[in-house]
Amino acid sequence: MNMKEYSPFTPGYPVPVELFVGRAKQIEEIIKYVRQTSTTGKPENVFLIGRRGIGKSSLASFLRYYVSSKTDFLGVHVFLGRVSTLEEMVQLIFDKILKEVNEQASLQSLIKLFGKYIKEVGLFGISITFAPPQEDLKELVKKFPEAINNLLTKIKEQRKGLFIVLDDINGLTEKIDFANWYKSFVDEVATHFKHFPVFIMLIGLPEKRDALLSLQSSLMRIFRVVEIAKLSDEEVEKFLLNAFTKVSMEVENKAMRIMVHFSGGLPLLMHEIGDAVFWVDDDNIITEEDAKKGVIIAAQKVGEKYLDPKVYRALRSERYRSILRKLGETNSTKFNKKEIEDRLNSNEKKVFHNFLQKMKELEVIEIDKESGPGSYRYVNEIYPVYVWIQSENYKRYSK
Ligand SMILES: Nc1ncnc2c1ncn2[C@@H]1O[C@H](COP(=O)(O)OP(=O)(O)O)[C@@H](O)[C@H]1O
Ligand SMILES: [Mg+2]
Repeated sequence: MNMKEYSPFTPGYPVPVELFVGRAKQIEEIIKYVRQTSTTGKPENVFLIGRRGIGKSSLASFLRYYVSSKTDFLGVHVFLGRVSTLEEMVQLIFDKILKEVNEQASLQSLIKLFGKYIKEVGLFGISITFAPPQEDLKELVKKFPEAINNLLTKIKEQRKGLFIVLDDINGLTEKIDFANWYKSFVDEVATHFKHFPVFIMLIGLPEKRDALLSLQSSLMRIFRVVEIAKLSDEEVEKFLLNAFTKVSMEVENKAMRIMVHFSGGLPLLMHEIGDAVFWVDDDNIITEEDAKKGVIIAAQKVGEKYLDPKVYRALRSERYRSILRKLGETNSTKFNKKEIEDRLNSNEKKVFHNFLQKMKELEVIEIDKESGPGSYRYVNEIYPVYVWIQSENYKRYSK
């Protein structure tokens, strides 16, 4: 029997550095700016945008690793997903810096910088956290540039600057407080500090960047925008090959083609598919059969995680649902409005237009310009598989 212990795939979590693929252009660009910040001492602000699951956090985590190990900057990657106040934000930033300093032997001597605000937590006080009282955090928000500057002078023997990633700032971008705070941070640094080698990278969805800029339009000039989109099929293949090789599994050609096809260049999907295939296989050789089974399982999972909550729950009306089932019957990634309409009864026809609107809003389908008027396609290759499965299940169980 084959005992599998761990899957090399990490759906939903930043990919480990050794399995990271692609993004060469963006890495080169960002590292160039980091080096520039290091030589000129001028701060840099980048806004990294991209769809959910496209690989923003993974890129950031790769960059942080790269910056920390190949440049003279200290890198921290801070997740602000659940943060809604500036106090929580600065607390987390300094907490990450403290943890980083604590972990690196060469920086240990700097621990005392954090003074009385260090709290030991966890069993036997193994980990430490930065925990100042609320009033002091308020002060830190106000004097952020000064605090960072103090830190820089203290670490300058070891590190020339800071690389700070503020990930998942989606919640904050809609807060006028944050927009104004960032603006005054940038202004104050420009007027008060000649040498401020700090590289800040904000990460969020494209519309969140727009939200931030609409609150504080002068930020527009401040940010360099870096965008990431799908990976190429070659990159997906390279990733899958590396991942399976890492656990001594072989992949047959046909199986590879199936997995690459259904991943459709989306990093999240290549992990979901890879993971499902990994667990399906039982002889360390990935065959066409394994790949097909895995894709179905992955579709089921992805559908339940991402489609169910938004689509199947949002489209409560029975008419919408029966349209969706008829759409599923075609088992295709593309469809023409007219073609589907022909399969609908008169009741369904009445709401078909609204149905399509809704599906577009939910980011399940998009207009397919290349295929002419009335053409639509799913935003990825795996959603239609799920819609098809749902429609098959319905047929099976309603008989
Ligand atoms: N360059 C990459 N190489 C390999 N896997 C990646 C890469 N980028 C993202 N992934 C994987 O894709 C999924 C989504 O990535 P993540 O970085 O969390 O996206 P985002 O932050 O944009 O939502 C995760 O499972 C992650 O491991
Ligand atoms: Mg992310």
